[in-house]
Amino acid sequence: MSDSVTAFAPASIGNLGVGFDMLGLALADVGDRVTARRADGDGVRVAAVYGLDGEPHPYLSADTNQNTASIAAAALWGDKGGQSGLELSIRKGVPLQSGMGSSAASAVAGVVAANALLPEPLATEALLPYALEGEKFASGGLHADNVAPSLLGGLVLCPTVLLPRTVNLEVPDGVSAVLLHPELSVNTAHSRRGLARGCTVEQWLAQQGYLAGFITACARSDIELIRATLKDVIIEPQRAESVKCFEDVRAAALASGALGCSLSGSGPSIFALVEDRHAKNLAVCMEQACRALGIDCQTWISPMDAPGARVET
Ligand code: HSE
Repeated sequence: MSDSVTAFAPASIGNLGVGFDMLGLALADVGDRVTARRADGDGVRVAAVYGLDGEPHPYLSADTNQNTASIAAAALWGDKGGQSGLELSIRKGVPLQSGMGSSAASAVAGVVAANALLPEPLATEALLPYALEGEKFASGGLHADNVAPSLLGGLVLCPTVLLPRTVNLEVPDGVSAVLLHPELSVNTAHSRRGLARGCTVEQWLAQQGYLAGFITACARSDIELIRATLKDVIIEPQRAESVKCFEDVRAAALASGALGCSLSGSGPSIFALVEDRHAKNLAVCMEQACRALGIDCQTWISPMDAPGARVET
């Protein structure tokens, strides 16, 4: 049995605009890596946290009780009889406070790596509750719309009332996600505390209609129905002002062929869905709109069926 395992877990788009706390999409080619090694003693500890440059991360704590990867891995290791101690090295590929599911990616990579070192590893789906322990610590609420797609890949429906059950949804043919990360930050827990506790029946009816329509549109690859339903009338209006490039980037995206455009999670990242053939141009137009405001940014283009977490070595 190996003594060391590295797992990768992708970034994700929480809410996907239309499904607050219950819809999420995995992103390709951007994520966190966690290496778990058997160690003396018992329990889980963090050996190091590195940034993309390979240097020790300037902000993230190596305190085992403060890091989502170790919190999640410790929940699993303690519950499922991990033998020996476990030491984690975390390599962050997802920017912090970006709305790209950074804390979820670490939590998921942590449990997937730890799981591979258990005497009897669990099925991937069974890891969700443990990864959620880490996410709960970071965001101050129980929502799986980053953890579930990061773990399972693709487009996932994960209403809190159904957890731990989740549903991988069909994705439309020929549609990509473009994600823009501006050099701004939003603290998810803070953003969540600022949300109104209620909405009108009219808003609730509209949002239910959009969510049902969007899921159907994805399954049928119905481009015009995606365009008609990728909307958020409840949460986005409350958060839009906290991301100062949002309105300009969204206007540029919609003028350049986006089927819809909204905040990724609590922001500041902004995503758009678009037909594949327009994706590169859309990314350029969104970047230009952001940079015109003096805000640096980075974009990723991802298919909607990006894979979830996996063991690499
Ligand atoms: N659903 C969460 C929120 C995602 O919008 O607060 C946070 O990334």
